[in-house]
Amino acid sequence: MHLADLETPQLVLDRTRLDRNIERLRTRLAPFGVTLRPHVKTNKSADVTRRLGGPDAPITVSTLKEAEYFLEHGWRDILYAVGIVPSKLPHVEKLIRRGARLTVILDNEETAQAVAAYAKDHALSLPVLIEIDTDGHRSGVPPEDDMLLRIGAHLRAAPGANAWLAGVLTHAGESYNCRSHEAIVACAEQERAGAVRAAERLRADGHAAPVVSVGSTPTAHFAESLDGVTEVRAGVYVFFDLVMHGIGVCAVEDIALSVLCTVIGHQREKGWLITDAGWMAMSRDRGTAKQPVDQGYGLVCDEAGRLMTDLVMIDANQEHGILRHRNDPAATPMLPVGTMLRIVPNHACATGAQFGAYTVVAGGTEVEATWPRFSGWA
Ligand SMILES: Cc1ncc(COP(=O)(O)O)c(C=O)c1O
Repeated sequence: MHLADLETPQLVLDRTRLDRNIERLRTRLAPFGVTLRPHVKTNKSADVTRRLGGPDAPITVSTLKEAEYFLEHGWRDILYAVGIVPSKLPHVEKLIRRGARLTVILDNEETAQAVAAYAKDHALSLPVLIEIDTDGHRSGVPPEDDMLLRIGAHLRAAPGANAWLAGVLTHAGESYNCRSHEAIVACAEQERAGAVRAAERLRADGHAAPVVSVGSTPTAHFAESLDGVTEVRAGVYVFFDLVMHGIGVCAVEDIALSVLCTVIGHQREKGWLITDAGWMAMSRDRGTAKQPVDQGYGLVCDEAGRLMTDLVMIDANQEHGILRHRNDPAATPMLPVGTMLRIVPNHACATGAQFGAYTVVAGGTEVEATWPRFSGWA
């Protein structure tokens, strides 16, 4: 079967690029002697995650549904990297009783107390990482804040049938706003130094805190030192996207994900091509809008994945996409109705989430597999 045989829109995954991207980060991190704990929220697929190392490899998830799905598919060493809340603890317990080595994260005393009480009452061995804020991006405790030690005091220092402090975690989310290679290097160093400092403070306070977990795709690719770090997390690196391209982490030709669509009409006087892939297919993500080059809803490739210079998806309705030449409407090629095109997305995680499966190709247009993926929370 070929892409031309499919009804559109479809989510196309180029396995050749996927494998190259996976190998790139693996090779990059090898000399640092750290564990890579991929974030599988980007792919939400056992077929993709198997290529990252298989069920023996550690993974990071962003929902308990992901934890559940990957446990069912054989993964056990799972870090749930969104702050835990007490109402989710029965679900966490269920997963641990079913064999998951699940670690949770938190950044406040109330939750630490609730987690400690729950684990004690249920004789549950529950490893906890304290989330550290190294760049003001989102959640976490600043490394120098004494709250860090107060949270630590609610947790046991060693493993056992209780909640125990396994270490610290940080995510350099501000790296997505970097505008140069040097800025990403600096961001990576800030991420590393803040996380290591927090772990050292906890150790000086009597905790073993063996785990120092850092990561984002930009900092994982540009960190020059990982001294004191034990594991690196990254998610979007497997697919890459236009946001990553916009900050210089990858080339457009590295992006493994695209949305296959069909030209359904034209507005010739406006220089528009209309397609059947709107924001429902691409997602509403306009992550490149604040970057130096705004890529609209995505860049346009032909059916075989070859970039069509300056053809951009400039706007989207629910099930309609509007394509036009970036600067000159008269230069838009008026491709006939029925032409198949592929749109490269701004944000791979968001676009992937619109679909229930990957249509897998290996560089060309022949379909070699269909890999299911899941979404939602319940
Ligand atoms: C806690 C955490 N770790 C790691 C990542 C991976 O980041 P990226 O997708 O840039 O690789 C994310 C992404 O949002 C995250 O929230």
